[in-house]
Amino acid sequence: MQIYNDILIIGGGAAGLSLALRLANTHTISLISKGKLTEGSTYYAQGGIAAVLDQNDSFAEHIADTLNAGGDLCDPEVVRFTIEHGPESIQWLIDQGVPFTEDSNHEPPYHLTREGGHSHRRIVHAADATGQAVESTLDQRVRQHPNIHLYEQHIAVDLITEQKLGRNDNRCLGAYVLDRKAGHVRAFRSRFVIIATGGASKVYLYTSNPDTSTGDGIAMAWRAGCRVANMEFNQFHPTCLYHPEAKSFLVTEAIRGEGGLLKLPDGTRFMDRFDPRGELAPRDIVARAIDHEMKRLGSECVYLDISHRPADFIREHFPTVYQRCLDFGIDITKEPIPVVPAAHYTCGGIMTDLNGETDIKGLYAVGETAFTGLHGANRMASNSILECLVFAKAAAEHILNQSVDASSEIDSLPEWDESRVTDSDEEVVVTHNWHELRTFMWDYVGIVRTDKRLQRAQRRVNLLKTEIKEYYGNFRVTNDLLELRNLTDVADLIIQCAMHRKESRGLHYTLDYPTTDDSQPPQDTILIPANFVAKHSA
Ligand code: FAD
Ligand code: SIN
Repeated sequence: MQIYNDILIIGGGAAGLSLALRLANTHTISLISKGKLTEGSTYYAQGGIAAVLDQNDSFAEHIADTLNAGGDLCDPEVVRFTIEHGPESIQWLIDQGVPFTEDSNHEPPYHLTREGGHSHRRIVHAADATGQAVESTLDQRVRQHPNIHLYEQHIAVDLITEQKLGRNDNRCLGAYVLDRKAGHVRAFRSRFVIIATGGASKVYLYTSNPDTSTGDGIAMAWRAGCRVANMEFNQFHPTCLYHPEAKSFLVTEAIRGEGGLLKLPDGTRFMDRFDPRGELAPRDIVARAIDHEMKRLGSECVYLDISHRPADFIREHFPTVYQRCLDFGIDITKEPIPVVPAAHYTCGGIMTDLNGETDIKGLYAVGETAFTGLHGANRMASNSILECLVFAKAAAEHILNQSVDASSEIDSLPEWDESRVTDSDEEVVVTHNWHELRTFMWDYVGIVRTDKRLQRAQRRVNLLKTEIKEYYGNFRVTNDLLELRNLTDVADLIIQCAMHRKESRGLHYTLDYPTTDDSQPPQDTILIPANFVAKHSA
């Protein structure tokens, strides 16, 4: 049976949930997420959300900091648009009931913290579990709304477009979706489709992200004919807990904002040798400095030390990090935290305009999956959830402004065809390829790149693509197979973008071109799929 609602939202993080809530009073909505709603990056966000809320701060300064962190590649119009809509987005979250940490001595009465690249305290937060506060509040609201139909444990397989059905125009009509529990694929039809599937950091062996960050939306949109940009800019968070069982647990940058110091194993500080801003330099610089020092000394990690601050302050401001480290026998009020960088954020993604609309009519991309132009070559800390909220509102307004009549309901779509596939008899292929892909991406397409490493990675990704295509054509789809297929497509896009960029800029650092090319205006790396159709040419 096919499912019809006015809107299909794929993804239940800050982007998907806030968009759903903004449209639910006027539209019916199918909201799908491949795990529980809380299994996305939003839930794990620690530091907070950046917005100009302090009287001594200004839009101009938040804009300047963002442009500066972005290595001259941010789109200034998008930066201005996002930052000017920051305070109202925070107010919207407060109105939904998000319990931000308060400070009665401040007006408005919220505590603001600081992170790398920010010239002011401007990060509103809920202790060090901001994402949990945001996601849980919006989750509750969504579940209470009669117009929002929630499908957890459902993974989108591919978008359905008019082009795929051999029609002349190219509107998005819905998506095929695998019900992970029942094991069957159904068509979800809708007038508008929103991809809000988050980032792709699982393409790397070590990541701060949850298992859901497999770049599904980017891969689906690319296959459907959307342009994708700036995939070479993968952000590596400088400080993830180094412990064999910690699975890259993030140690928030706000610890450095509150005075945390980075130290080598012998206790000496090193960040001042790399940047005058020291520990509060933007992330690309700090992650590269740590990588450099670890390689120079052959050490397995460096250390983040906040133990000089009062123990009560640490426990009050960083309860999550404090408890998690204590679980591993590290008391951060008394000793430094062993840390390493790990893949954290996908700055590139599906190209959108200021309404969040992609190259395909009726198809929007919002949140980490999108490339809006905000982040340039390096996202500044805590600008991400802000982008989710601002662009969810913009997309909602764009959809609300489009007149719709009953005849615009999408016709029934072709059913998913399983007539030529069987159950897999060799799941080991999928597990093996997952591991291989993530390992060579870490080794060859990581913090420091070379042409040779990228070529090696490309040869391997080409081979994996051929194997996966054959497997996909012969066997019934499973969650793991779909994610592997998407990760491989995304890895290919990252490598293609990285090979295009013959300079070092922001998060893309290559030993073959170690400096920034200032001889011409900075350019985004835009990849155009073979089935791309310019929106207004049909
Ligand atoms: P997500 O929150 O990742 O949600 C994606 C959703 O899509 C999930 O529901 C997932 O199940 C679903 N999905 C994915 N693929 C499919 C599919 N094929 N079918 C169906 N559903 C699918 N940013 C900040 O601004 N401030 C911070 O303090 C901060 N801290 C962070 C800490 C950590 C540990 C991490 C990992 C990230 C942090 N970030 C932070 C980044 C920020 O959390 C994310 O960029 C942002 O939350 C992304 O939101 P989103 O809605 O785009 O995606
Ligand atoms: C952190 O708390 O360090 C993460 C902030 C971010 O990714 O924006």
